[in-house]
Amino acid sequence: MIKKIKSLEAESKKLEPTSKERKEYFEKIFNYSQNFLEKLSSLKAYQSTKDNGAGIYDSPVSDKPLSIEKILDLINQNIDKPGINPASQRFMGYIPGGGIFPSALGDYLADITNRFAGLFFVSPGAVRMENMLIRWMCEMFGFPAETSGGSLTSGGSIANLIAIVTARDTANLKSKDFQKAVFYITEQAHHSVYKAVKIAGLGDAVIREIPMDLHFRMNVQALDNQIQKDIKEGLFPFFICATAGTTDVGAVDPLEEIGEIAKKYNVWFHIDAAYGGFFLLVDECKNIFKGTEKADSIIIDPHKGLFLPYGTGAILIKEQKKLFDSQNYQANYMQDAEDFTDEYSPCDLSIELTRHFRGMRLWLPLKLFGVKSFKAALEEKILLTRYFYEKIQKIKNIEVGPYPELSVMIFRYLPENRKTNEFNERLIQEIQKDGRIFLSSTRINNKFFIRLAVLNFRTHLDTIELALKIIEEKIGIV
Ligand SMILES: Cc1ncc(COP(=O)(O)O)c(C=O)c1O
Repeated sequence: MIKKIKSLEAESKKLEPTSKERKEYFEKIFNYSQNFLEKLSSLKAYQSTKDNGAGIYDSPVSDKPLSIEKILDLINQNIDKPGINPASQRFMGYIPGGGIFPSALGDYLADITNRFAGLFFVSPGAVRMENMLIRWMCEMFGFPAETSGGSLTSGGSIANLIAIVTARDTANLKSKDFQKAVFYITEQAHHSVYKAVKIAGLGDAVIREIPMDLHFRMNVQALDNQIQKDIKEGLFPFFICATAGTTDVGAVDPLEEIGEIAKKYNVWFHIDAAYGGFFLLVDECKNIFKGTEKADSIIIDPHKGLFLPYGTGAILIKEQKKLFDSQNYQANYMQDAEDFTDEYSPCDLSIELTRHFRGMRLWLPLKLFGVKSFKAALEEKILLTRYFYEKIQKIKNIEVGPYPELSVMIFRYLPENRKTNEFNERLIQEIQKDGRIFLSSTRINNKFFIRLAVLNFRTHLDTIELALKIIEEKIGIV
C-alpha cells in the first residue's frame, strides 16, 4: 500500500508547479494578456471565423499534458477570435461592461489564496469584505444600515430569482396559493424575471403586464387600477417588479409612485436595477432614481455598471432577516460554524454554498481607483449616448426611440420604398458582418429597432463618431 501511495504521490505532486514553473506560466499568460490589451483597439468587435471555435475539439481532455504555449494557442484561435469581443470599446450591443483589469488581479488573488467567502467562521475577513460591499450598495439606494443586507451573486438572473423566492417565503405562499398570486411587471421587464418566476415554482401565478407611457415606463394609475381589480376578484397582489434601466431603452419606471402603491396594498416591491443601478452614482441621475428606498428588494450588476468582467451581481434586501429566513439551512457537518455569528454568512443569504470569492474582484478596483473614476465613466457614457442620439438624427430618415435617460437608445431607418423591418434587419446584419462595431437589435410593438448600449468603460467619443460613420455607410449599401 505504501508503495502505491508513494507512486500516486509522485504523479499528484505535479499539480503543484515549482516556483520556476509558476513564474514561467505566469509570464506566458501575462504576456498573452498584455498583447491582447495592447492590440485590443485594432481587433474587431465581432467576427465569425472559419470553424467558429470548433478547433477546441481537436484537443480533447485526456491524460496527456499540453505545453502552456500550445494551450495559449488553442485559446487564441478558438476562444478569443470568434464571436463578439466584449472587451472591445466598439462592442455596444446587449449590455456591455468591458472587464476592468484589476478585477482579473482580484480573481487571481482570490484564486491563489482560495478563501472560502461563504461562511464567517471559515473566512471572517473575506465575509466582512463582501458584506461591506453589500452595505455600500444598500446605502447607495437608501436602505437602512441597521436592517438591510444581501449577497453577491453570479449575476442579475440569480439575484432576481433570490428576490422572488424571498418574497414568496416572506408571504408564506404555499403551492395552493400560487394560482392566486399576482406579479405586476411591464412588457419591458427583463426576461430573467419571467424565468425566475417559473424556476421559483410560481409558473401558475398570474402575470399582469401593466401598460406603459410613451417612454416605456410603467403607468402608475394602470397599476393601481389593476391591483384594485385583482383584490375584488379575490386574487393576491404579491409582487411588483419595477425596472430601473430597461434593457431595450434604458427606461426607469416611476419608482417613488410605485413604492407608494406597493405600500398602500402591502405588495412586495422589487426593483431590477441590474443595468441601471450604478448610474445612481451620477448626481444628475439621482432624481430619476428617487424612491429606491421604498423597495423591499433591489438587484444590481457590478458586471454591468461597474465594468467588471462577467460574473458579479448582487441582491439587496431592505430587511436582511427575510433573506436569511428564506435561504439559511443547518446541517450537522456545518456545526463548527454555528457559534460564529458576528456577521451574516453569504451562504445563509443565497442559493449557493461554495462559491467564488467574488468580493475581491469588486473590492480591489474600487480601492485601487476610488469611486470617482467610476462616476466619471458612467456620466461620460450617458453623455455619449445623448450625443449619438442627437447626431444620428442628422442622417435623413432616421427615427429614434425615447430620449436616453441612461446609456441605451434605439433607432431605425425609414426607407422610402421598402419594408422598414426588412431594411433594418439587413442593416444590422451588414453592421455586424462588418464587425468594426457591434450593435444589437430588438423588436418593440413589432417594429424592428437597432440598439446602441454604451457601457463599456473603454468606449469614448472616437468610438461613437466611428459608429455614426459606419451606420451611415451601411445605410447606403443596404
Ligand atoms: C434589466 C436586466 N435585468 C436582469 C438582467 C440579467 O442579468 P444577468 O445577465 O447578469 O443574469 C439583465 C441582463 O442584461 C438586465 O439588463
